[in-house]
Amino acid sequence: MTAPTPDLVLPACDFTVFGATGDLALHKLLPGLYHRELEGQLPEGTRIIGVSRSPLDDAGYRDLVSHTLFDHIPEDNLEAGALHRLLRRLHHISIDAGMPERWHDLHGLLKDRPAGDGESGSIRIFYLAVAPDLYGPICHRLAEFDLVTRECRVVLEKPIGDGLESSRQINDAVGEVFEERQIFRIDHYLGKESVQNLLVTRFANTFLEPLWNSRWVDHVQITVAERPGVRHRTDYYEAAGALRDMVQNHLLQLLCLVAMEPPTYVGPETVRDEKLKVLQALAPLVGEDVDRNTVRGQYASYPDDIGVPTNTETFVALRTEVQNWRWAGVPFYLRTGKRMARDESTIEVVLKEPPHAMFPQSEGVTTPNRLTIRMKPDEGMQLHVTAKVPGPGGIRLHPASLDLSYDTAFDERCPDPYERLLMDVIRGIPTLFMRRDEVEAAWAWVTPILTRWHDTSTEPIRYADGTHGPAEASTLLSRDGRTWQENPA
Ligand code: BG6
Repeated sequence: MTAPTPDLVLPACDFTVFGATGDLALHKLLPGLYHRELEGQLPEGTRIIGVSRSPLDDAGYRDLVSHTLFDHIPEDNLEAGALHRLLRRLHHISIDAGMPERWHDLHGLLKDRPAGDGESGSIRIFYLAVAPDLYGPICHRLAEFDLVTRECRVVLEKPIGDGLESSRQINDAVGEVFEERQIFRIDHYLGKESVQNLLVTRFANTFLEPLWNSRWVDHVQITVAERPGVRHRTDYYEAAGALRDMVQNHLLQLLCLVAMEPPTYVGPETVRDEKLKVLQALAPLVGEDVDRNTVRGQYASYPDDIGVPTNTETFVALRTEVQNWRWAGVPFYLRTGKRMARDESTIEVVLKEPPHAMFPQSEGVTTPNRLTIRMKPDEGMQLHVTAKVPGPGGIRLHPASLDLSYDTAFDERCPDPYERLLMDVIRGIPTLFMRRDEVEAAWAWVTPILTRWHDTSTEPIRYADGTHGPAEASTLLSRDGRTWQENPA
């Protein structure tokens, strides 16, 4: 076990996960906690309490987690000592979150040690890895059983609600029990290294800032494409669709980080204030604008995955603008889809053409400068430039790129986003979490799109599995004289 660096040391806490046998808990949260255990970051006395309907005792839950970790952690990272320490921290309590029974068991376990202000062992985290309609009832039950203290935090997964109205209701219900400073609304995209590095690239360097505006940027593209379909998450996905599942949160958050103004310093309120301003500056898409600026798609085999034909979208492309001084007139194109040609998440900031073509042979050879921020497949950044081909024969131009791949540039492992975010919850730092006003501003922008699709019964356009989505998504750009960047695999 490596000795933890002092500022990585966390206070001991009780980390309670509702939905403890679900996908998120088993495939993301527990592997994340395992990796922090491996690095020696979880202090003595930290307990992880799984809550689910499954009739498991502690030993049964430890077994389940141990098997899952064996399946999910790369062999090189599996260390018997760390695994053993993590398993020893685990407990399981069977509670049906919607029912009043057995909450006294949770009460008994948590009350086993004093909950005070700040002393070791007093921090309680409640991670709600369950359907959002249970957030309110669970929080109220926590209050009823006297489990909420000043040092508690609650973590909510997205999407919070299915539109502005339900999001407000859920936020209100949670807000009756927890103060805003205690509510951590997670968007795991904010925990990705490349996404955090976007802030660093923009604000810890000077070379980009003079170019980062409508004078030099032609347009921005944000793509999150996934090869798999909806897999076994059919019930959730049928109710959500791609706009709610991805655009309302991940893609809009990425857009905010690209477009936001520099905050005075990196703090929870300063960063989130600037993101909020971007959301408030988004050109509204309402009524006929929706027909013209959005594309809804569905992959061909989706009905087989679901069992019946349905109208849920598995692909969205849209065009918007940020209506402020910096970005006036610069289109932001967003797209996301499942069963696409490949797994690829990128932000492309495409610059304008040089004002004068002084190299006669350059026509058709040069491409505009472009900064690619890559979240998938391998995290990094590329600056696309035009370079001279070496050797005689006049000045021949060719596109080339300056590459930063995290894998090769740093010795450190790129942690899964959940690892970083879980530690921030324990430390009580909400900078990388969505504030209520941000979530609601995002819903306020997205809801009219949902309404228009609903009112006009807009059917999703079918696209073949393993492609870049419907052709109409290309038209969205080609009518502006642009094309999607398809990076080589
Ligand atoms: C989740 C969505 O929030 O993000 C999933 O619910 C999606 O549908 C996933 O597959 C994508 O995350 P990542 O990190 O694999 O790009």
